[in-house]
Amino acid sequence: MLTLALAKGRLQETTLARLEQAGIVLPPEQLDSRRLVLNDVRGEYRFLLVKPGDVPIYVEHGIAQAGVCGRDVLLEQEPDVYEPLDLGFGRCRLVVAGFPDMPWREANHLSKLRVATKYPRITQRHFQARATPVEIIPLSGSVELAPVLGLADCIVDIVETGRTLAENGLAVLEDIAPVSARCIVNRAAFHLARHQVTRLLEQLAPPA
Ligand code: PRP
Repeated sequence: MLTLALAKGRLQETTLARLEQAGIVLPPEQLDSRRLVLNDVRGEYRFLLVKPGDVPIYVEHGIAQAGVCGRDVLLEQEPDVYEPLDLGFGRCRLVVAGFPDMPWREANHLSKLRVATKYPRITQRHFQARATPVEIIPLSGSVELAPVLGLADCIVDIVETGRTLAENGLAVLEDIAPVSARCIVNRAAFHLARHQVTRLLEQLAPPA
């Protein structure tokens, strides 16, 4: 039996739908429960429902042989796992956002740009590459509030529909990377359970 770590939240529903298309069905009574470990009806897979940022941890440590999470999480954590499959859903963008009239490109390098984010490592790398000194303000959600209330000059976050930015008077200032859901695989399991992992990847692959 393979164990898969699945991200709760925005990817959960689409991930379960893709599994179902592949004939991997979870019993509704388990999905409606508060159980965090679920089994598919055929008893071939065990699923762990975890926070998106914890998916790579379970996979890297081999508790789960594979997992599904966003590329944003992988760019932030750079876990030591294989990333063999772009699942093609959960598409969004990692961006720098702020007030449209913010003169951030000419930011005075004497004072650091204050950037609020759930992605401190991506933010550090991004601004380091352009030699812009930043003070990173780590937040765990509702990041858009930070520039609105003066806590930060701008944010690094994911944008999907753009509604949250627009409804808070903010705009995309710069693209960092495209994001979509990825299937990741534990390095040892990729070899030791090659047959099962290959079958799973074939089952989950987006339709051509
Ligand atoms: C994400 C992201 C933005 C929002 C973008 O937050 O951090 O706030 O979604 O989506 P949109 O462009 O479609 O408006 P999420 O809903 O995951 O919750 P969080 O703020 O608690 O992290």
